[in-house]
Amino acid sequence: MEQDFSMLDAIIGKYRNRSGILIPLLQDVQQTLGYLSKDAMRYLAEQMQIPAADIYGVATFYSMFKLKPQGKHIIRVCKGTACHVSDADGIKDALRNELGLEGEEDTTADMKFTLLEVACLGCCSLAPVIMVDDTTFGKLTPDSIKGILQRYAYEEEA
Ligand code: FES
Repeated sequence: MEQDFSMLDAIIGKYRNRSGILIPLLQDVQQTLGYLSKDAMRYLAEQMQIPAADIYGVATFYSMFKLKPQGKHIIRVCKGTACHVSDADGIKDALRNELGLEGEEDTTADMKFTLLEVACLGCCSLAPVIMVDDTTFGKLTPDSIKGILQRYAYEEEA
């Protein structure tokens, strides 16, 4: 069944017939839909009369654009140098294990968490570091991961 993207029409109206608008257009669409699906990009291409390849090119070039649905909480695990030498891999493994992520998966089946790897989060003295949404957790060990994730689980039940 064709998805209805008419909720994007107001955004499209705002940017139509203007040049150099692809990035803000895609930011607005992502804010509305949570991510940029292929169908949504196709709809934009049709409506804006822009080649779909141009839209797809921008969406895949910038890491701020998400091409898959994201979990409610975004966990960023730092893979910068300071964190790397402080066992960022062990932290990542503990996270994947605790979240039950397998293979290429980066989002839990219940859509609660998405795990992303990022370069330096800017607080290397706290290495190894993760961020959950806007909160930073530093000087971690693999054993500390379970407790951090539980906070978010309890928060949601409260
Ligand atoms: S390398 Fe991880 S915070 Fe800088």
